[in-house]
Amino acid sequence: MPVPDPFHGVSFAGKKGCSVSAPVGSRGYRGWHGPPAFLPGHADGPPPERKPVPSSPESDQVVFVERTLRKAGLNPRHYRRAPLVRRIPACLRALKVDSLAAAMREMESSPDRLLVGLNSLLIGTTAFFRDRQVFDELQRHVLPELLGRVDRPRVWSAACSDGAELYSMAMMFDRLGAEPPVFLGTDCRASAIARAREGLYPISATAEMPMEFVRNHVRLSGNTATVSPEIRERVSWAKADLLTQSIDSHWDLILCRNLAIYLAPEAMDRLWKKLSAAIRPGGYLIVGRAEKPRLEDFSCIAPCIHQKAPGSIA
Ligand SMILES: C[S@@+](CC[C@H](N)C(=O)[O-])C[C@H]1O[C@@H](n2cnc3c(N)ncnc32)[C@H](O)[C@@H]1O
Repeated sequence: MPVPDPFHGVSFAGKKGCSVSAPVGSRGYRGWHGPPAFLPGHADGPPPERKPVPSSPESDQVVFVERTLRKAGLNPRHYRRAPLVRRIPACLRALKVDSLAAAMREMESSPDRLLVGLNSLLIGTTAFFRDRQVFDELQRHVLPELLGRVDRPRVWSAACSDGAELYSMAMMFDRLGAEPPVFLGTDCRASAIARAREGLYPISATAEMPMEFVRNHVRLSGNTATVSPEIRERVSWAKADLLTQSIDSHWDLILCRNLAIYLAPEAMDRLWKKLSAAIRPGGYLIVGRAEKPRLEDFSCIAPCIHQKAPGSIA
């Protein structure tokens, strides 16, 4: 099956806007912020004296979060600080260090260590059939409606984390006996995409999964659950930054759940606009429980499920 490309031929690696934009200062983490010695535009003499910006634990934490995002190629302006700052203790634990400076040094020491830090900072919580009522509604009403008018729907899980959400969709389509739709999952974290490809999960990720799907599509062994090869081979994965890369249109169903809650208001609005424009008339956008996008041409037909007006322009 050809790999669908939602990003219009934009290469995923080394894309402009995805590179490390703040060089890592040789003085290390603590020396990085603070006022410059001279402000620009004062060629005739020293600028008026400015008080140094005092460093505080709070500002250190914010700087740490911003630097980590930048190092991972993400733009910190797109994210709300508070939820990420709350993840710092988890990040230090994952890196087995006890200070921000040590964590920064660790993450600068190798790409693998950077991934460890980033994975604990960017919240990747997910599970099969997470928010089960939403999946029940999709199975009862949305998928049959979609299959009644589209031969091979295109389904995209944007910000898919390690893929349990998209595999859940693939299992539901299979149950309806449909020709396998086009399935794509993307996330900004390479390690999440690698795990999605493997289809290997802790058994706890199946807690909300209906027993029928466990029986038909998952092999349980010890503490792990492995998605069957038949389901795995229907699904394609790619690493991509949803906020900076342009996206293809003509999707029949996009799931973008539990990313927008971490975004700054402007980035959130742009994300919803981008995704809603990428959905075909009559298609669906599925969002997280705490997310309430205001979308032109869409109506909310059930909790978390928004449908684009059939007569709207694609
Ligand atoms: C809480 S998880 C949501 C997973 C799944 N959609 C769910 O609701 O179960 C949020 C995901 O958004 C991803 N993410 C954060 N910023 C992103 C970006 N700019 N582009 C793509 N994915 C991003 C994170 O890596 C994380 O895996």
